[in-house]
Amino acid sequence: MDGKKIGRGDLALLVSKEGKEFLVQVDERLFGTHLGNVDLGNLLGQSWGCITTTHRGKELYVLKPSLHDLTRHIKRRTQIIFPKDLGFILMKLEVGPGKRVIECGTGSGSLTLALAWMAGPTGRVISYEKEEAFSLLARENLERVGLADRVEFKLKDAREGFDERDVDALFLDVRNPWDYLEQAYQALAGGHTLGILVPTTNQVSRTLEGLAQNGFVHAEVCEILMRRYKANPERLRPEDRMVAHTGFLIFARKGTLKEVEDGTLPE
Ligand SMILES: C[S@@+](CC[C@H](N)C(=O)[O-])C[C@H]1O[C@@H](n2cnc3c(N)ncnc32)[C@H](O)[C@@H]1O
Repeated sequence: MDGKKIGRGDLALLVSKEGKEFLVQVDERLFGTHLGNVDLGNLLGQSWGCITTTHRGKELYVLKPSLHDLTRHIKRRTQIIFPKDLGFILMKLEVGPGKRVIECGTGSGSLTLALAWMAGPTGRVISYEKEEAFSLLARENLERVGLADRVEFKLKDAREGFDERDVDALFLDVRNPWDYLEQAYQALAGGHTLGILVPTTNQVSRTLEGLAQNGFVHAEVCEILMRRYKANPERLRPEDRMVAHTGFLIFARKGTLKEVEDGTLPE
């Protein structure tokens, strides 16, 4: 298949006119929904964007899932990083084909998925998690979308340090990132970016102090707000509800102060 037609094993997003979504893997089987059954075998060889009809006569658009769709459909058992934050994180960390990136902790694998997607088949994501159940869940989520082979899932506490050196970028999504800045400094390549997400301002302050003490420079803090609109051309207006807060994003570069590398930086 050239990617323009629907093939066996492809993930497809079925979307009703009311916006109800179903993420399915296409093969010869019936898929049951509250709108009726869909014969997925009928989709094989059709063009993305086609319409299929359930046995109850309900029409569903058949769309190729984007990275945004996939992250919204992962199974979650932890707080996850949302698409509005993921996009900016990927830019700030300069994640692209062939890059080697560490993240900690893995959680449900929302960031893992985005990193693996952007790093491509030649890149590598090394994902640290201390709880086995979350590491397994994230692996399952990545396997479901066919990206698990780009990720090394490590069951290890960041306290013990990261095994890699000179990585292109590193992201910490843990409650107490200030405790792992020394470990992050050791693993990251000089001048490259460390990213951190924390939900409260007191965590931001503590992290900023830690960054300065551990040889990181050019620290930035931001928060991303996104307001969605009802896409009705005659009554265009914002949605009634919005997610007012997810987390604060902190980015800093690894400086290469000799005193930090020697461990002789004064307190
Ligand atoms: C908020 S979740 C991460 C969510 C993830 N970024 C996502 O997008 O799905 C935080 C995770 O960090 C893990 N964690 C906390 N402290 C850790 C540590 N010291 N070393 C490794 N993992 C840790 C927790 O077990 C938890 O799964």
